[in-house]
Order: sequence, then structure tokens, then C-alpha cells
Amino acid sequence: MTRPTVNKRIVLAARPTGEPTADTFRLEETPVPEPGAGEVLLRTVYLSLDPYMRGRMNDKKSYVPPVELGAVMVGGAVSEVIESRYDGIAPGDYVEAPTGWQEVALASGAAVRKVDPAAAPLSTAVGVLGMPGLTAYAGLLEIGKPQPGETVVVAAATGPVGSLVGQIAKRFGARAVGVAGGAEKCAFAERELGFDACLDHRAPDFAERLAAACPAGIDVYFENVGGLVLESVVPLLNPFSRMPVCGLVAWYNATSFPGPDGTPALMRAILSNRVTVRGFIVVDFAHLAERFRADVGRWLRDGEIVYREDVVDGLERAPAALIGLLRGENFGKVVVRVAPERL
Ligand SMILES: NC(=O)c1ccc[n+]([C@@H]2O[C@H](COP(=O)([O-])OP(=O)(O)OC[C@H]3O[C@@H](n4cnc5c(N)ncnc54)[C@H](OP(=O)(O)O)[C@@H]3O)[C@@H](O)[C@H]2O)c1
Repeated sequence: MTRPTVNKRIVLAARPTGEPTADTFRLEETPVPEPGAGEVLLRTVYLSLDPYMRGRMNDKKSYVPPVELGAVMVGGAVSEVIESRYDGIAPGDYVEAPTGWQEVALASGAAVRKVDPAAAPLSTAVGVLGMPGLTAYAGLLEIGKPQPGETVVVAAATGPVGSLVGQIAKRFGARAVGVAGGAEKCAFAERELGFDACLDHRAPDFAERLAAACPAGIDVYFENVGGLVLESVVPLLNPFSRMPVCGLVAWYNATSFPGPDGTPALMRAILSNRVTVRGFIVVDFAHLAERFRADVGRWLRDGEIVYREDVVDGLERAPAALIGLLRGENFGKVVVRVAPERL
């Protein structure tokens, strides 16, 4: 493969207030660097877009530092190795690494994970077999602990996390109730993903529909979104229910929180029903990654679980795709195809 001479990359140009806009990002061209000892030079094939990226644009204390202004936007990617100065990784290999929104990247060979292109489609390394998959698997099984006959509720049900939460809940004998935006997503969740029911959170009578779909209450609420869904879930929580708090995407662009304060109702429900609420970040469960990939890889090969991707072509389309993802315009795991798998 001829070595590229120019790298296109997208940097954080401004910190957004509320929803990001085109001005939040800037496309730049830079020279392609030389790999030093122990490094690999990578050509990005699939860039993952994920809701957490919105949080990295804020200059606020969080579980990791924000992206600096002018720095490349963070992101996981599957790439082809162009050059290697690291033993055990060779040109032509595929790897997964947090190389960000750019066409070419340098990485430490020790920090990348080799991906076998024969084992599963390459893009799954940042989806169902990657970070969002592990999030669903570990958050549900380690914190949610679904039992046969119990009711598990998850929103963003057709996204990479929610779709796997629902399917794993079913495998463990629970009832899976999904929440998604719009009739098409709900139909997909019921027909293709096997949810027992899926409710549209935009319906005016959403809270009543959710209650009707959970006649025995809720035993596991896998919290992906916050907002109105959380508010509607709280009165349905059963004694000793579990709430893995994974994400709060309904609030990621929020600049204010109007309306009555739901905290008293939430805290009362937690106290009186002895609800276990535990926030987690996927890295807390890095030790489960091998077991996760073995289990979910097998379920995929056996056709026991399915996944859906929303593929966007071209790095320059990443900003609009992330803005759309935060609005719920995506349908499945968002991956940007930055370049073809083989040149
Ligand atoms: N803790 C961790 O380590 C970790 C790791 C990965 C992901 N997460 C979190 O997991 C959640 C799901 O991530 P994902 O990658 O699977 O995302 P995703 O489903 O691909 O995309 C986010 C979805 O959120 C839904 N949404 C947006 N605004 C909403 C609102 N106001 N009310 C209800 N739903 C809304 C939309 O789906 P609908 O159109 O269906 O509403 C949108 O498609 C996110 O909160 C993310 O931050 C956490």
C-alpha cells in the first residue's frame, strides 16, 4: 500500500452550548507522521460515533479529561496497519484503537487490539463486539442481574447498547421491554430484536403505555437516557429492583432542567423499594472483555442475536452524524466508513 502523505482530521473548534453545530468542528489537513520505535501507523477504516463524545466537548470535571480545543475529536476506530515498528503487528493487520476522528493515526503498538477480519465483520469491533457491546453485557449481567420471569426495561432500544441489553435479558429468561423513538424503531425492536414490547417515548400517553407493558412492575431498569423515560419508570420500580446507570443521553445537550424536580419521587422510590442504583463506566469491566467477546461472538455466529448498524460514508460527515445521533436520528450503531476495508 502506498503511504499517504496527508492526514485529514476533525478537531474540536469550539465548546458547544446545547446542541453541537457545524462550527463546533473543524476539518484540517496535516502531514502524516513517521512511526517511532514501538509505534504503528494506522489507516482508519471504521470510526465509531458514540453519545459520550458530547460530554468530552465540555470543559467540566468528569471521569476523563475533556478534548482540548484544537485537538482531534476522540473516538474508537478499526484501522488497517500501514507501517509497524512493534513486534507482533504487521502491515495489513487490522486493529481497534482509540485513534479519533482522523484518516491516519499513530498509536503505541501496545495499546491496540488486533481484530480478526475472518471472525466477524470488521465494524463490529466498535459495535456489538466492541465497547457498546461490553457495556450492555457487563452492565446488565453484573449490576442488573436479570432473573427468569423478571421484567427488564431499556431505552435507546435499537442502539448498540439497548439492543444487546434486550437480547441478553431474553437469553436469561427475563421479559424485555424496550423504549425507542418512533414506530419504525419500535417495530424493529419487537420483530427483529425479540423485545416482548417496545414503546415510543414520544407518544403523549407514553407513561400509561409503559405501565401497561409492565403489569408486574420493573425489576431491572437499564438506564440509558434519563429524562421522561426515567420519570415514567420510577413509579413502576419493584422492591429490590436494580438500576445500572449507564447513560443519560436525553440530558447530554441540556443547558437547563425545566419542570418539577423529580428527585424527591426518585429518592422515595429508591428508599421504599430498596432499589440498587449503580453508575458504571465500561472500563470498570475491562476484565470481562475476553468472556464477553467469547459469549457474544458465539451468540452472533449461531444467529442467536442480531445487530444493526447505521453506516455513514466519509469522515467529513461525522459531525452531522454525531449531531443526529444525539437527536435520535440514527437507527442502529453509528459507524463512519472513513475508507474502504482494502485499498
Ligand atoms: N457507561 C458507559 O460506559 C457507556 C458506554 C457506552 C454507552 N453508554 C451510554 O449508553 C447509552 C446508549 O448508547 P448507544 O451507543 O447505544 O446510543 P444510541 O442508541 O446509538 O444513540 C443514542 C439514542 O438515544 C436515544 N435518545 C436520544 N434522546 C433521547 C430522549 N430525549 N429520550 C429517550 N431517548 C433518547 C435515541 O434513540 P431513540 O430514537 O430510540 O430514542 C438515540 O438514537 C447512552 O446514554 C450512552 O452514553 C454508556
